Amino acid sequence: METLRIQGGAALAGGIRVPGDKSISHRSILLGALGEGATRVTGFLDGRDCLATVGIMQSLGVGIERHSAADLTVHGVGLHGLRSPDGPLDCRNSGTTMRLLSGLMVGQRFASELTGSPQLCTRPMDRVVSPLRKMGASISGAGGGGTAPLQVEPPARPLRGVKYAMPVASAQVKSCLLLAGLYADSATTVIEPGPTRDHTECMLRGMGANVMNEGRRITLEPPQSLHETHVAVPGDPSSAAFLMVAACIVPGSRLRILDVGLNPTRTGLVDALLQMGADIRVANRREVAGEAVGDLVVGYAPLRGSEFGGDLIVRMIDELPLLALACSQAEGPSRIRDAQELKVKESNRILDTEQQLARLGAEVHGTDDGFEIDGDCRLRGARVDSRGDHRLAMLLSVAGLAALGETRVNGADVTDDSFPGFADTLAVLGGTVVRGPADD
Ligand code: S3P
Repeated sequence: METLRIQGGAALAGGIRVPGDKSISHRSILLGALGEGATRVTGFLDGRDCLATVGIMQSLGVGIERHSAADLTVHGVGLHGLRSPDGPLDCRNSGTTMRLLSGLMVGQRFASELTGSPQLCTRPMDRVVSPLRKMGASISGAGGGGTAPLQVEPPARPLRGVKYAMPVASAQVKSCLLLAGLYADSATTVIEPGPTRDHTECMLRGMGANVMNEGRRITLEPPQSLHETHVAVPGDPSSAAFLMVAACIVPGSRLRILDVGLNPTRTGLVDALLQMGADIRVANRREVAGEAVGDLVVGYAPLRGSEFGGDLIVRMIDELPLLALACSQAEGPSRIRDAQELKVKESNRILDTEQQLARLGAEVHGTDDGFEIDGDCRLRGARVDSRGDHRLAMLLSVAGLAALGETRVNGADVTDDSFPGFADTLAVLGGTVVRGPADD
């Protein structure tokens, strides 16, 4: 276990790239494996979550050649070429791996078991198990089907295409059903209550599948085959978000974050911060391999409190605790609604954000579906804990940069799940950040 010691107050400055997008990296491996040829992936996120996906696909017989940490080739085996694994498929801490993989495994002619860390085994899986069963899948979980480990048996007859209205806006559930839909006897339609990230649909289209979007309805026709593709993974906007908010709240900061993914399903935080009066500009906007990319130029500016809810929430689901932190530094109160999903992420991000930020003196109050935040808060350094959640560790580090005195973030090595080199990145940009062994 590692502790980060952060001395607050140092302005951040300079230009930097963040690691590759986690969602796109997972999908490049899962879908690349199903193509008929070799899929080249550049900008891959060499983080623990995505490496879990790599390990699993290798154990299913897929050749994955690492040319360097971020550059690899996935030797696709086609839709029907996966091999029965020798043991359980270990998703480690990665909810994306488990939920997407469950959709893929239910279409195979062999049985499998999907397992993961104790933390992952408490997260809700009924959201995929229940619709997969409607498709005729044979899948069951622990605790009445609701949690991992998940047991999958080959289906007695081909999966059925279904029309499924998701009760919660979840890209993981949508992607799971589209992956199962690759093996169905007719079209699969998913209706989403809000605009969730669409990387699965984009990549499937790029591999030749017929995926239609009609408003909130996404329909996949089961393809005969998928061809190989080239995935140029952009910088992860969810990782850039930590640097962006740090620049917004630490006086004197100015950053240029290069080559960040700007898919509109992911840019809710930029819109929310602009609504608060932030100094953020997008430069060099372009399209790379089907995804919007650009540079975020961000400077410190006084922020105004505001209210957030509705579709904007889905477009920044992983960034909401950061928005709450920004609100605590703004003039006047703020409110974040419609965010009950935060309770079932890597930690209960409503409760843990409230409790850990309170140690630094922030008035970020959890509600049933989000936060009520008092603005104008002067943060003071304190000892805080990541609770095993990579995004909570990074949130608390950013809060530490804006606080008076020293903040110690315990359990900070978990940042490697999605942002390897996070602490070093802050230090390169001028933050006073030192990595060390765990505090007692
Ligand atoms: C992800 C979707 C989101 C997000 C997660 C990654 C994905 O989860 O929180 O970090 O890659 O599809 P939900 O779709 O469950 O909201």
